[in-house]
Amino acid sequence: MNVNGKAYRSIWLNPDGCSVSIIDQTLLPHRFEIRVLNTVAEAAEAISTMRVRGAPLIGATAAYGIAMAMKEDSSDDALDIAANALLATRPTAVNLRWALTRVVGELLPLPGSARQAVAFELCRRICDEDVEINFRIGNHGLGLIRSLWEQKQHPGDPVYILTHCNAGWLATVDWGTALAPVYQAHDAGIPVHVWVDETRPRNQGAALTCWELSAHGVSHDLIVDNAGGHLMQHGKVDLCITGTDRTAFNGDVCNKVGTYLKALAAADNSVPFYVALPGPTIDWEMADGVAGIPIEERDAAEVTTVSGRLENGEIASVQIAPDGVSARNLAFDVTPARLVTGLVTERGVCNASEQGLKSLYPEQEQ
Ligand code: MRU
Repeated sequence: MNVNGKAYRSIWLNPDGCSVSIIDQTLLPHRFEIRVLNTVAEAAEAISTMRVRGAPLIGATAAYGIAMAMKEDSSDDALDIAANALLATRPTAVNLRWALTRVVGELLPLPGSARQAVAFELCRRICDEDVEINFRIGNHGLGLIRSLWEQKQHPGDPVYILTHCNAGWLATVDWGTALAPVYQAHDAGIPVHVWVDETRPRNQGAALTCWELSAHGVSHDLIVDNAGGHLMQHGKVDLCITGTDRTAFNGDVCNKVGTYLKALAAADNSVPFYVALPGPTIDWEMADGVAGIPIEERDAAEVTTVSGRLENGEIASVQIAPDGVSARNLAFDVTPARLVTGLVTERGVCNASEQGLKSLYPEQEQ
């Protein structure tokens, strides 16, 4: 997508062929800074500190982490150590495991001397595939938005869409998952207006989704996390759409904490609640998402403080709770399949159920 008229992906290979550049998402929306990653340690640091975040981008960065490890040491031991270090960075998004399994699986049978070149080429493919997948998700989701628009009394009335966290291009290699349909609807001339949940504690909605939407010229309002229910009750939301970090094969959907409450409010108000996801976000080993998906618990300081820009332009963190307060920072929750109207994938839209998912991914049938 474009930043100040220049096309960017969220991660790209540098001309040296053995390092990557990322957009440091911890500095947005105040500063747009590119950071170069040279080593597996730098890739792991970028994931755990959330310079890169969002399930598909975490996977792509981890894949490049393995490739960069192969520059220093291409032995089996080094492969194993790099994969374990990357896997330990964040527990919830299954794209991390998916990418590591794919890269390690391709490299292991090869001689050490071939591994670096093959790994970088595979990472390029993983990134290109992600872009293609998300474009297709956008296309399928566009159909849903178009049909809501066609039901409007006046063609100038916008389709009101509520989203949580950031499932836009910054969370993927390009396009995004939940926001890909929004961008494609906007580009097709369908009026859309997005309600953006701020998404405490790290405010991915306020910082990243609003930044992306305004760069693309999509109409939106930032709202506090608890406003969505009120908007739904008053007929101001036509569609909720979010991304997901891991979807169990029974259709339970794990996403940024607070997603579940939006789904409950949507069900109570008969607002369709869709989740957009690429195939690699489906965990075919996970039968029950509510019971089994590991929920990341991050530093409590993210809850007791808020970070932002001071009047003098400096980025700072301020404390919002009493000294010594005890806080918990559960970063994700799971929305049970029964609350999900449908899953929007690169292969089409299906019910949030094992049967629905297997109808689109028949290769997973035993
Ligand atoms: O903690 P984050 O910012 O990595 O969480 C990201 C999300 O929850 C996104 O909604 C999810 O990864 C889907 S992104 C296409």
